[in-house]
Amino acid sequence: MTTILGIETSCDETAAAVVVDGVDVRSNVIATQVDLHARFGGVVPEIASRAHLELVNGVIATALEDARMTLAEVDVVAATHGPGLAGALLVGVSAAKALALVLDVPYVGVHHLEAHLHAAWLEDPEVELPMAVLLVSGGHTLFVAVDGPGRYRILGGTVDDAAGEAYDKVARTLGLGYPGGPVIDRLAAEGDPRAVAFARPMLHEGLDTSFSGLKTAVVLERRRNPDRPVADVCASFQEAVVDTLVHKLLGTAEACGARTLVLGGGVAANSRLRARVAEAAAATGRGVLLPRPALCTDNGAMIAAAAFARLAADGPTPLDDGASPGLRLPEVG
Ligand code: KG4
Ligand code: ZN
Repeated sequence: MTTILGIETSCDETAAAVVVDGVDVRSNVIATQVDLHARFGGVVPEIASRAHLELVNGVIATALEDARMTLAEVDVVAATHGPGLAGALLVGVSAAKALALVLDVPYVGVHHLEAHLHAAWLEDPEVELPMAVLLVSGGHTLFVAVDGPGRYRILGGTVDDAAGEAYDKVARTLGLGYPGGPVIDRLAAEGDPRAVAFARPMLHEGLDTSFSGLKTAVVLERRRNPDRPVADVCASFQEAVVDTLVHKLLGTAEACGARTLVLGGGVAANSRLRARVAEAAAATGRGVLLPRPALCTDNGAMIAAAAFARLAADGPTPLDDGASPGLRLPEVG
């Protein structure tokens, strides 16, 4: 039995979790800093690092408490070491290395996106492979073919804004506050998705996406028709985003012969995206895996799960290894 403490501080969530043998989640504690960044309309790196510093020890203590464990029972300490905000990453990496040193146990540095992929196995260890995974959050929009743990190929991604970033920018334009995703999701449910015919960016150009033009299109539409109900604009914007994401996810699935469609990242909480991906899976005879939101957004459980696999494959990470804000996903294929 291997008990792993997983720590995540790459962006604006301070999170820690205890996971046994890579699959058994004993606790999963997430302290979000969303309120601290809300008045700036986005994540402020310096504020994020300071908040991580203030929160990290308490979050780790709560994760152990929730798991009814003591530090002495931890066999491995893992943390996200990239990609992410440099100062934010350093807080989790330093905490994990200090604990590993004191406890005399291995430290494992984890790739943040690899961890997001592991959320699928946490939700369903038996998920049918290959999977076509859409990782979609405020920081990334990636289409990944997954043949197994450590066997990933990135087949597409955004050429400019991430989808979550587009939600946040459009929400700001519409005066809806931050983060934009949940409020647009809610308002869109009451609006008409056909009210405004926003273009579907790069729909038939491979597996990449572009969302920055869509934000500009919303700004122009607002100027032209200031009296149009906001719910209709939200629904139309969301339909353009979801159409594009679902179309490219199906393209990814075709390219890799995927048996299962999978969502990950904060935008995976979107109700319309979840419904449309489930429909697309059913229509093409594939399975679908929509991990619960606590495993989709940044969390410590996925870090511990990815660390379990990495430790088995590569062994511990040296303690002189630092944080790498621009770390790339190790790809094969
Ligand atoms: O994964 P996450 O918590 O943090 C990172 O960006 O790494 O994702 C946050 C993003 C924000 O852009 C937020 O607006 C978006 O996820 N989001 C949503 C929804 N809930 C959160 N976007 C669309 N619909 C939602 N229901
Ligand atoms: Zn993330």
